Amino acid sequence: MIILGIESSCDDTSVALLDCSKQGHFVIKEITASQIDIHKKYGGVVPEIAGRMHAEKIVPLIEAILKKRPTPNAIAITIGPGLITGLLVGLEAAKTLAYVWNIPLVGVNHLEGHIYSVEIGQNKIQYPAIALIASGGHTELIYISKQGKYKRIGATKDDAAGECFDKVAKLLGLPYPGGPEISKLAEKGNHTAIKFPRPMLNNKNWDFSFSGLKTSALYWLRDNIGRTFNLCDFCASFQQAIIDVLVGKTINAAEKYQPKTIILSGGVSANKKLRETLRKEILDQFPKSEVRFPKSAYCMDNGSMIAVAGYYHALKKNSTDWKKIQADPNWKL
Ligand code: KG4
Ligand code: ZN
Repeated sequence: MIILGIESSCDDTSVALLDCSKQGHFVIKEITASQIDIHKKYGGVVPEIAGRMHAEKIVPLIEAILKKRPTPNAIAITIGPGLITGLLVGLEAAKTLAYVWNIPLVGVNHLEGHIYSVEIGQNKIQYPAIALIASGGHTELIYISKQGKYKRIGATKDDAAGECFDKVAKLLGLPYPGGPEISKLAEKGNHTAIKFPRPMLNNKNWDFSFSGLKTSALYWLRDNIGRTFNLCDFCASFQQAIIDVLVGKTINAAEKYQPKTIILSGGVSANKKLRETLRKEILDQFPKSEVRFPKSAYCMDNGSMIAVAGYYHALKKNSTDWKKIQADPNWKL
C-alpha cells in the first residue's frame, strides 16, 4: 500500500511517500524542512513562527514528493498532539488531497508515529511491548498489548525530558536544541561529579517530573557563579540524572508487564548514553526481551513514521471523512 505521510505538529514540516506491506515499510522518498535555524535565535520553538513556516513549506514539499511518483492509496496525517496552527496547516493540505484523489484520510496520533518509527528499515514490533517516548514535548510510557492497543501507563507531570535538556542548555548558553549539545559535552565529563536529584525515581508509579531537576541545575549554577567549573562534568552529571530516571522507570514497567519488546523513541532516543544504558540494563535483567531504537534518521519528527502508523489504520479501514476529521492539540494516546 502506498501511503503519503504528513507531519507538521511542532517545528518540522515533513512529507514522505512509503510503500508499506506485511514484509515491511520502504521509504520511497521523504523530505523534511527543519525550522531549527529559525527557532535557534529564540532558544526554543515559537508557535506563531512555526505555524507560518509550515504554511510556507507544506505545498512545495508535497509537490516535490509526488513529482513522477505513484499516487498514494491513502493519506496519513498527524492530527495531535501538537501546536494547533501547524496541525491545521498539515490537516488542510491532507484534506484537500483526499478530496481531489478521493482516497482514505487517516488521522494519526503523533506518539503512535514515534512508536512505529522503530519499524522503518527494521523488523516489525513483537507484542506485548512497552514504549518510552521521550522528546521535546513528551515523556510517556505506553504499554502496547497488541498492534493498535495502547495504554498510557505514565507521563511527565511537567517538563518533558527533551525540554529539560533544552532549558538547561539555554542556562549554559548552549544553542537550541540543547540535547545534542549537552550529550556531546557529557562524553568528556565525569557523571558522578555533581549530585543532581533523580525526581520520582522511587515513586511507585511510572510518571515523571523534570522541572525540579531543571531548578536544581539552575540553583547549582547560581551557587557557583564566579567559580570555574568543568562544563563537561556538569553536562555528564545532569545527563546521567535524566538517564537514571528514564531507564529506572522503564525497567520498573518491564518488571510488571514482561514485554517481548522495549521501545525507546522520540528525539531524546538519539542520545547514545541513554541507548547504551537501557540496552545494558535490559540485557542484564530481561535477556529474553528485545530493545528497539529508531534508525537515527527517524528519531526526530518525520513524515515516514506517520505513514507507517497510518498504514496500520488504513489496513483496518480506520479512516475519517475529510469533512469530519479534526485536529486535537491535546490528544492523548
Ligand atoms: O521528537 P522531536 O524531534 O520533537 C518533539 O516531538 O519534541 O524531539 C526533539 C527533542 C529536543 O528536545 C532535543 O533536545 C532532543 O529531542 N534531543 C536530544 C538528543 N537529540 C535530540 N536529547 C538528548 N540527547 C540527544 N542526543
Ligand atoms: Zn515528536
